[in-house]
Amino acid sequence: MLTISNISRVFESEAGTVEALRNINIEVPDKEFLCFIGPSGCGKTTLLRIIAGLDQPTSGEVLLDGRVIRSPDPRQGMVFQEYSLFPWRTIINNVAFGLEIKGVPKDERYEIARKYLRMVGLDEFERSYPYELSGGMRQRVAIARALANDPEVLLMDEPFGSVDAQTRNILQGELLRIWGEARKTVLFITHSIDEAVYLADRVVVLSARPGQIREIIRIDLERPRVRTSVEANVLRERLLGLLGHERTRGCGETVCWTGIAVDSNRQTRPDE
Ligand SMILES: Nc1ncnc2c1ncn2[C@@H]1O[C@H](COP(=O)(O)OP(=O)(O)OP(=O)(O)O)[C@@H](O)[C@H]1O
Ligand SMILES: [Mg+2]
Repeated sequence: MLTISNISRVFESEAGTVEALRNINIEVPDKEFLCFIGPSGCGKTTLLRIIAGLDQPTSGEVLLDGRVIRSPDPRQGMVFQEYSLFPWRTIINNVAFGLEIKGVPKDERYEIARKYLRMVGLDEFERSYPYELSGGMRQRVAIARALANDPEVLLMDEPFGSVDAQTRNILQGELLRIWGEARKTVLFITHSIDEAVYLADRVVVLSARPGQIREIIRIDLERPRVRTSVEANVLRERLLGLLGHERTRGCGETVCWTGIAVDSNRQTRPDE
């Protein structure tokens, strides 16, 4: 069980004070697939970094199975919003990095790394360097690297934001398959309502900054899900309504909403 208890985060800098998050409370049962959605700048990445132990909250705490998270924990794996590969390492050595740190012998770690590279369709690139891959390919390597460590909790910050629509569909399916098999807890940030409705058990809708929980929506659709079902459309409309409200309420920044990958005129077809 992951417990996010009363998390607030205020950033102080010479430019001023930014209240990023206010009083976030969520209990995430083991094996849940939880999506986060909310306006750009509302604190999603900040929250995930706090959960990962990469940043400290101004108040509140995160507990994993009753233990407070204060620093990165091997039970958690993170896929970042921007590519975060080591440029000096080959692709396979990027994927095998965590296993190397754990002291897994070379043959074994390569075998595991290859399995995940195959899964994301990049086994032919194991000896390439990150600069030789496209942005979407690099992000797939980052996903393989997180999975190779077999974490209990997978923290994913818009992991499919930069891959093409077709690959995104495939990766969503792969992620659900892995989640179904290994039953990890997944916390997944997305800007796509379609993606949230396709993937999540629950969707946490955050308000415009300071990020607060506006609503948590349960997605009670059987898997495998049909993206175009009437029930999925009803949920998409509901999420769209909530997010639309945040746009008009939030900060007068029309620009802050442009990242949302949904077409409000589309009634039946998903954007992927
Ligand atoms: N290290 C930092 N120092 C100062 N301010 C920060 C820092 N990190 C984040 N912020 C501020 O906190 C707010 C939330 O940022 P965050 O990156 O969490 O948003 P986000 O919801 O992930 O946005 P996006 O959807 O665009 O990725 C922003 O106003 C940002 O400027
Ligand atoms: Mg972010």
